[in-house]
Amino acid sequence: MGNTGHRGRGNVAAVTTPDWVLLDELFTRVLHTEDDAMRAARDSAEAEGMPPIEVSAQHAKLLSLLVSIAGARRVLEIGTLAGYSTIALARAVGADGAVVSLEYEAAHADLARRNLERAEVADRVEVIVGAALDTLPTLQQRGDTFDLVFIDADKENNVAYVQWAITLGRPGTVIVVDNIARNGRVLDPEPADRQAQAIRDMLDMMGAHPRLDTAAIQTVGAKNWDGFAVAVVR
Ligand code: SAH
Ligand code: DHB
Ligand code: MG
Repeated sequence: MGNTGHRGRGNVAAVTTPDWVLLDELFTRVLHTEDDAMRAARDSAEAEGMPPIEVSAQHAKLLSLLVSIAGARRVLEIGTLAGYSTIALARAVGADGAVVSLEYEAAHADLARRNLERAEVADRVEVIVGAALDTLPTLQQRGDTFDLVFIDADKENNVAYVQWAITLGRPGTVIVVDNIARNGRVLDPEPADRQAQAIRDMLDMMGAHPRLDTAAIQTVGAKNWDGFAVAVVR
């Protein structure tokens, strides 16, 4: 495992590693994209046997930049895992900002909290354990609103999560959704591929929604062919 790329992919024999994976490793190395705390968070997830599905280093940095560009101070994340993307979001909101991250698995949330402590951003992050559809209403009840929402959990609920992001947002709130390509499976989903179908349904919903302005950006890199949807609430 190298310290420059995405765990689980970088050390595959060069003949089978797509050039875009290698190029992502170069970008991460020459741009110094990951700090020690983020590398440690990624490695900790692997050590605890969690799936290697955190965003790539470059995508984490893009999330940070979107937070900065939007001037977002309050960020909501749906899907914490080990807190890799959470650290990137928390660094970008700054010391006076706040991140709320929703996670179903208590073990993931526990590891994320430890990683957030190590990254020295735990004071600005609240990790809430539970199914997001159960915990989102509590955010509404307590009057929370968000400037940027990052959706990266169970894809089957993505339509509902985008609706919640609008509900908890305001005109100008940025919505980012991970995994809009899934190696192309979203193009013509197999009937059994509920996740790819759910992403298709979400894109249809976003395109039809009168309050959303949306782009779907395909990317290649450490996580192969995937991408972000980026939307602004009107
Ligand atoms: N955003 C993270 C990766 C998240 S992986 C990163 O880039 O670092 C997806 C996470 O969503 C997993 O930890 C999974 O347990 C969580 N999840 C799955 N279903 C969920 C649900 N219904 N509510 C909240 N979290 C859920
Ligand atoms: C999976 C989920 C993700 O959020 C991701 O970025 C990659 C893969 C998955 O469930 O396979
Ligand atoms: Mg994802």
